[in-house]
Amino acid sequence: MRQISHIFVLLNFVANSFVSSSSHSAPYASVLNHTSHLRDRYDYIVIGGGTSGLVVANRLTENPNITVLVIEYGYVDGQENGTTVPGLPVPGKYLRTDTSIPQPGLNNRTSPLYTGAVVGGGTVVNGMFFARGSAGDYDAWEQLGNPGWGWEGLLSYFKKSETFTPPTEELQDMFPGVISSDLSPHGIDGPVGSSFSNYQYTVIKNFFAGWNSVGVSTNPQPNNGKAIGAFYSTISAYAKNQSRSTASDAYYRPIAGVRENFHLLTGCLVAKINFSKGRRAVGVDFISRETNKTSTVRASREVILAAGAVRSPQILQLSGVGPKRLLESLGIECVVDLPGVGRNFQDQPTIYMQFSYGNYTFPTPDWMFSNASWAAEQLDIYNKNRTGPITIPYLGGSSVAFLPLKNITPSYPSILTTTALTNLSSILPSKIHPSILAGYKAQHDLLLNLYASPDAAVAEIAWEGGNTIPLAMIRPFSRGAIEITTTDPFHPPSIDFGTFAHPTDMLTSIASIRKLREWISSPAMQALGAFETFPGASVSTDLEIEAAIRNAATSSWQHPSSSCAMVKKRWGGVVDAEVRVYGVKGLRVVDASVFPMAVAGHTSSSVYAVAEKAADIIKLSWE
Ligand SMILES: Cc1cc2nc3c(=O)[nH]c(=O)nc-3n(C[C@H](O)[C@H](O)[C@H](O)COP(=O)(O)OP(=O)(O)OC[C@H]3O[C@@H](n4cnc5c(N)ncnc54)[C@H](O)[C@@H]3O)c2cc1C
Ligand SMILES: *[C@@H]1O[C@H](CO)[C@@H](O)[C@H](O)[C@H]1NC(C)=O
Ligand SMILES: *[C@@H]1O[C@H](CO)[C@@H](O)[C@H](O)[C@H]1NC(C)=O
Ligand SMILES: *[C@@H]1O[C@H](CO)[C@@H](O)[C@H](O)[C@H]1NC(C)=O
Ligand SMILES: *[C@@H]1O[C@H](CO)[C@@H](O)[C@H](O)[C@H]1NC(C)=O
Ligand SMILES: *[C@@H]1O[C@H](CO)[C@@H](O)[C@H](O)[C@H]1NC(C)=O
Ligand SMILES: *[C@@H]1O[C@H](CO)[C@@H](O)[C@H](O)[C@H]1NC(C)=O
Ligand SMILES: *[C@@H]1O[C@H](CO)[C@@H](O)[C@H](O)[C@H]1NC(C)=O
Ligand SMILES: *[C@@H]1O[C@H](CO)[C@@H](O)[C@H](O)[C@H]1NC(C)=O
Ligand SMILES: *[C@@H]1O[C@H](CO)[C@@H](O)[C@H](O)[C@H]1NC(C)=O
Ligand SMILES: *[C@@H]1O[C@H](CO)[C@@H](O)[C@H](O)[C@H]1NC(C)=O
Ligand SMILES: *[C@@H]1O[C@H](CO)[C@@H](O)[C@H](O)[C@H]1NC(C)=O
Repeated sequence: MRQISHIFVLLNFVANSFVSSSSHSAPYASVLNHTSHLRDRYDYIVIGGGTSGLVVANRLTENPNITVLVIEYGYVDGQENGTTVPGLPVPGKYLRTDTSIPQPGLNNRTSPLYTGAVVGGGTVVNGMFFARGSAGDYDAWEQLGNPGWGWEGLLSYFKKSETFTPPTEELQDMFPGVISSDLSPHGIDGPVGSSFSNYQYTVIKNFFAGWNSVGVSTNPQPNNGKAIGAFYSTISAYAKNQSRSTASDAYYRPIAGVRENFHLLTGCLVAKINFSKGRRAVGVDFISRETNKTSTVRASREVILAAGAVRSPQILQLSGVGPKRLLESLGIECVVDLPGVGRNFQDQPTIYMQFSYGNYTFPTPDWMFSNASWAAEQLDIYNKNRTGPITIPYLGGSSVAFLPLKNITPSYPSILTTTALTNLSSILPSKIHPSILAGYKAQHDLLLNLYASPDAAVAEIAWEGGNTIPLAMIRPFSRGAIEITTTDPFHPPSIDFGTFAHPTDMLTSIASIRKLREWISSPAMQALGAFETFPGASVSTDLEIEAAIRNAATSSWQHPSSSCAMVKKRWGGVVDAEVRVYGVKGLRVVDASVFPMAVAGHTSSSVYAVAEKAADIIKLSWE
């Protein structure tokens, strides 16, 4: 979660103007100058030094006999304040913006899609919200043909990746019973910091009181498999210094220049994976962004794809692994016809509603933008003392309501009935491979169970006390696709979110807006004088609300996933339960693209857990 807006862009501009350090000069000995120091072969080549790629590279190089090269498009960040201080905007140079194709469900508007293009990937630029999904989310993954990938199988990997620090006494006193300090669901000695901002705006008390009065309970422990209710989330930060904890801090910096068997090549775009005649991945071709020179490097054991949910399917397709018809139309020799590559793509459509507060008389998050002297004071307090509102992630925060369908509307049975009757063939493209449709049907059944469950959320409402209140459909029924349109590896692929292709996503959105309004109308929120300015009270019938959503929603909650799904092959899958790409040898995918279905929540903690588990699976293959 990060609420990208024009304010964000503006502040990026300001931030950039006082950040002078060059990312190229970061003094990490294992960042290679590839013209001179690159070996011609490594045991493993990891494509993408983002969140998942760094986890796997770190774990594999724990064995000094194993050599690993990570090839990353971006550079090592310069640890500018904007990347370490939660309340400052991240420098724009680390953010890549893609644009979707027109979305029929959004009146043919396009949507932006942001990713991190930097060592550490999404975790350097993200909103730092750090919470797991519900047990049922992962149990559904297991049911799609993946023994060991359910909640029980993943829990030890969630723990392995984090060091959790309980909330301060001040925070607990401010929110009695709202935030559990129980260590048991958590890891206590993993690389990623998981903690709480040590400051909170007082109006957040009204958030919880408001939800409680409209039938949504406070959940003090959302990380134990029930990510539901109104809760106060952990963030990916180090408690001690209230700084962002990135994959780079956690899995790269501690070993940079220390492990000789770990090499990181920055500023290079992987263009293609090479296969031998026996369809074994034997190496990759990459292009330097500085010289445009193409080089090649060999993998003696495996190639590991970790370029994220947009670029991993793109690289597979460019390399001849994907839907045969698509590859042939571009003159790419088909190594293996794998119809699922790029399919099953998912993100969470979001509408940013706007509110004003007639009775706000104390500091609010909007003062950061409206009251320059106050904002400067807060930055000073942070710099001197590591306290105050700058410890809260920029345009983000910790207080959310995760709503199961039963919590959203009493007429949930009719939504479930409509959903069950939906003709899935009419939603997917007409010439889709039968395996994709079969997989969609299998997912649909599992989704219906999750929509009927009181323990699994379908919508998220986040509030940090400011004017903007995002509402996200976190468990979409709709499916999109990633497809290359050219053989140029620099050219972004076509991004189709499929937003609102399935009618249930719209029905749930409309019902969720009504529930959000119920919360706003609660005495606790009315004590603040809260009133809706967008879409506004005059937008009230279902048809009016639907029109507003189609006119204003965006396709992405910055959580793209599932485009190289870990699903049975006959259900359109791309990788098996050992994350090996079907039909070839020596090639795995370890990033958010293998999630069989979206996690109903934010992705980063699950990406860490998946990559930790994938690393263990790879290590088992050595025995
Ligand atoms: C703006 C934003 C806000 C977010 N907010 C949150 C949040 O609050 N909470 C949360 O949990 N999640 C959040 N996320 C999502 C989360 O950060 C990502 O899901 C996660 O980091 C993805 O991990 P990954 O390993 O799949 O991909 P990434 O971390 O994106 O890593 C992929 C890497 O591959 C590199 N790469 C791509 N193509 C190539 C190529 N051809 N050659 C070489 N390298 C390549 C990229 O530069 C990138 O570094 C947010 C994401 C964004 C972008
Ligand atoms: C990289 O190596 C080349 C050739 O050895 C050299 O000319 C160049 O200056 C080096 N660049 C850096 C940044 O070290
Ligand atoms: C590395 O290789 C050496 C020599 O073959 C062997 O003795 C050692 O056990 C290996 N170490 C690991 C961690 O596999
Ligand atoms: C969207 O574009 C398609 C194809 O151009 C067109 O058929 C359709 O009518 C458009 N829909 C809207 C709402 O404009
Ligand atoms: C914060 O603390 C962590 C853990 O000790 C450390 O790795 C990181 O560099 C620190 N960050 C800053 C900005 O001080
Ligand atoms: C990959 O294939 C290209 C031709 O497409 C060739 O030039 C290159 O040497 C190959 N690299 C490896 C590692 O086999
Ligand atoms: C690399 O090639 C692109 C066109 O493909 C060009 O726009 C760019 O300027 C080139 N960069 C360098 C450093 O040569
Ligand atoms: C701005 O903040 C200062 C404290 O720095 C406060 O005294 C003042 O009242 C605030 N102004 C407004 C308009 O809220
Ligand atoms: C950046 O952080 C350092 C250390 O906390 C601080 O001294 C400096 O003032 C900060 N810069 C800005 C612009 O806040
Ligand atoms: C500095 O931090 C301490 C606790 O860590 C806190 O009690 C104090 O109020 C803070 N000072 C300011 C100016 O916020
Ligand atoms: C479902 O949709 C497909 C494709 O649009 C259509 O051919 C089929 O007749 C529909 N089935 C039913 C039962 O309506
Ligand atoms: C405005 O807020 C104050 C302090 O929270 C409260 O006492 C008062 O009743 C509120 N006024 C209205 C009209 O709700």
